[in-house]
Parts: sequence; structure tokens; C-alpha cells
Amino acid sequence: MDKMWAGRFQKALDSTADDFNSSIHFDSRMYKQDITGSIVHAQMLGKQGLITDGEKAQIINGLSSILEDLESGKLSFDMDAEDIHMFVESELTKRIGEAGKKLHTARSRNDQVALDMRLHLANECEEIGKLLKELIMAIRDLAKEHKNDIMPGYTHLQRAQPITFAHHILAYAMMFIRDFDRVQDAHKRMMSSSPIGSCALAGTTYNTDREFEAQKLGFTGIALNSIDGVSDRDFCVELLAAFSLVMMHLSRFSEEIVLWSSWEFKFIELDDSYTTGSSIMPQKKNPDMAELVRGKTGRVYGDLMALLTTLKGLPLAYNKDMQEDKEAIFDAVDTVKKCLEVFTPMIATMHVLADNMRQAAKKGFINATDLADYLVKKGVPFRTAYKKVGEIVAHCIDNGLVLETVPLEKYKEFDRLFDQDLYHEISLDTCVKKRISAGGTGAASVEVQIKYITEFLDDKGIY
Ligand code: ARG
Repeated sequence: MDKMWAGRFQKALDSTADDFNSSIHFDSRMYKQDITGSIVHAQMLGKQGLITDGEKAQIINGLSSILEDLESGKLSFDMDAEDIHMFVESELTKRIGEAGKKLHTARSRNDQVALDMRLHLANECEEIGKLLKELIMAIRDLAKEHKNDIMPGYTHLQRAQPITFAHHILAYAMMFIRDFDRVQDAHKRMMSSSPIGSCALAGTTYNTDREFEAQKLGFTGIALNSIDGVSDRDFCVELLAAFSLVMMHLSRFSEEIVLWSSWEFKFIELDDSYTTGSSIMPQKKNPDMAELVRGKTGRVYGDLMALLTTLKGLPLAYNKDMQEDKEAIFDAVDTVKKCLEVFTPMIATMHVLADNMRQAAKKGFINATDLADYLVKKGVPFRTAYKKVGEIVAHCIDNGLVLETVPLEKYKEFDRLFDQDLYHEISLDTCVKKRISAGGTGAASVEVQIKYITEFLDDKGIY
């Protein structure tokens, strides 16, 4: 393929350098946005009298037929093309001749690629937003089913205080709601600043209408500085940061799924359709999906670091280094989507082994705080009560007891304020039920959370 810019050169580009330089194998995924942007550009050129109405019609029809042929498979990408922009333009000229050569008036690939990226990623934000909502809904539904299932809550991975399974997993719903907000926020900012018309870097001598193009393409405004318009990739970094947090949250959840499905915990059993066996150990049922999600978190962080490092120290305005933005952000988009697509059904189909959770909650003195609180409510200062209960726990450990099996006479030796009702106060159900503080594990707070999540899911926002 003859290079469009060949006029200035005496020799052809070395073929290895040509391969190295080409981005069509990864930017071809933006073909739709490239064509849409070009159609709007042609409309603007026509409206401003920069091309004739006939030329405008020819260009728009030509571009539409390219889009149609790409979608039907009649036309395939020419992998020798330098990038998607060059491919579409040369295909257009092949189809309509001279008029095709006018399309690139008053624009450059620099503003074109910045435009395509924004339009393409805005779509992806919508897809990922939907996947996040599905995940949040699956967590909410699971929580609804397990409002009364008690499990140990942990700090330092040591049994700490009893909670419900609903309360535990709703913590993840809160994280994913924040993630959704971040993606939506990045999306809004991305679509608030149309770069098209910034041209190579300095604007243009033609009488263009950037506002017209921005509005037709769904932007809420234009980049007010053409240099910024072509060199800004903040929107990619912001999205990568938001995706890194999505992955971090998925990874923490995955880690718990892995732990919970081990024989050591056995709090859940993953459905067969989301687990794998071993090639040698016949008994194995491995949580590969959760492990892979945890593992893939690293590559999304890597994508963020890669792009930040690429952009660091780049002089204004466009530099070819910026072509590297695509592989990083596309990899992150694909990874996040794949992870969400497998993670949501994996948790929706898992079997929650509530009896095992409750059994585990019976060990580890997780009601010790409640025993201390029992004394506090009878007037003992918290620190004194706390110390006494520590001594009672030590007594239990020495004598193979739990707090529920220490006889009342023994309790009275530690403090005469202990009475028969203490056994009710330290039962797991009471411990959970009495945690009535806002945001606590008590039933009312769990209901508030479920309501909040349901309202979030019902809100039709931008997606
Ligand atoms: N493929 C290029 C990229 O992704 C398009 C912009 C090329 N601009 C240029 N001045 N060579 O960045």
C-alpha cells in the first residue's frame, strides 16, 4: 500500500519499521467511531461550504457503505494500512474517487484519533456500567436470601465479631456502586470536551463549526485549547484508575471466595459450572475463576502504570508514543469485561453453606465484646470490663470452655454483676440483633442498605 504521505519521501518505509509503526491490528476496533466521526465531519464541511453538497453526499454514502460492508463481513481490514483512519480514508477514495480526498480538509489524525478514542471508550463505559449493575444486583439478591445467616466477621483474618453473611457481602456492593460512579464520572468528563477541529495542534484557517460536530457526536462541549485537545489522554488514565479499583474490589472478593470454598472454611461451594478439576488429584474442585480474576488484577494495574509512564515527560502536543494508549486501555477494558462476565454468574450460582458459617461463628470467642458490653451496661467502665472478659477468655482457653459454657458461679467470681441473663446477651443471634447502630450488622441497617442499593439500581441515570 502506497503511503498517503509518500510525496515527501524518496524511499519506501522499511517493512519491519512499517509493521512496528502500524496500529491497525489494535485500532481497527474503533472503525465505527472513526466512520461516524467522518460522517459528521463531512456534514460540517458541507454546511460550512467547504465542500459541495454533492461531495458531501458522496462522502457520506461512501462511508456508510464501508460501515455496512465491514459489519456484514464483505469488507475486511487491510492489515497493511497504517491505522484505521488511513484505512477508512483510502477505502473511501477507492470507492468514490476525488471527493474522498476532500474528507480530511480541516482535520488531522491527531484530533481524529482523540475523537475516536473518546467515542469508543464512552461506549465501553456504558457496557461496563451495565455489567457492574448486574453484579451489584446479584450481590443484593444474595444478601436478601441470607439476612439471618450468621458468620464470623474477621479482622486480621482472626474471628472478631458475629455478622450476617448479608452484611458482609453488601460491603462489596458499596464498593461496586462507587466504581460505577467513578466510571460514569469519567464518562461525563470524557464527553464534555470534543477534540475534533483541533486539527494537527493549532486549529485551522478554515471556517469550521466545532460546536456543530461536538453536538452531533453527543459531546456537551468542545476542547477550548487545540493543543490540549490533541494531547490530552487524561480520560484514558482516569478510566484505567477506575478499572484498577474495580479489579481491586473483585480481587478482594475473589480472595474470600477462594478461602471460603476451601475445606478449612467451607462457607460456600461454587457451582460445578464455575470450577475446574485437577489433572492428577481426582478429589479436587478448584476455584479457578476467582483465582484468575485475582490474577488479572495485576495486568490492569500494569495497564495503568504503562500509560502513566508513557505520558510522563511527553512534550506537547501529539507524539507517536501516544499510540501506545490503545493497547493499554483496550486490554484493561477487555479484562474488566471478561472478569465481570464470569464473576457475576459465579457468585449468583454459588451455594452458601449457612450451617458451616454458624458453626464457625461459635468458636473463637467472637461474642467477647458483647460480654464486656454486658458489664458496661451495668455500670462497669468499658476498660475494666474489657480486662475482666480477657481473663475469662484465658480461663476458657485453659479449661477447654467457651463463654456460653462457663457456669454462672464462675462468672460471679470474676464480677458479681454477672447474672443468668448474660447467656442470652452473648448468644450469636442477640449479638447480631443488638448491633443497631447505623451501618451495623443489625437487621434494620441491612434493610437500609438493601433499599439504598435497590434505589441505585432503579435509577435510570445515563445507563
Ligand atoms: N495511529 C495513530 C495513533 O494512534 C493516529 C495518529 C497519528 N498521528 C500522527 N501524527 N502520526 O496515535
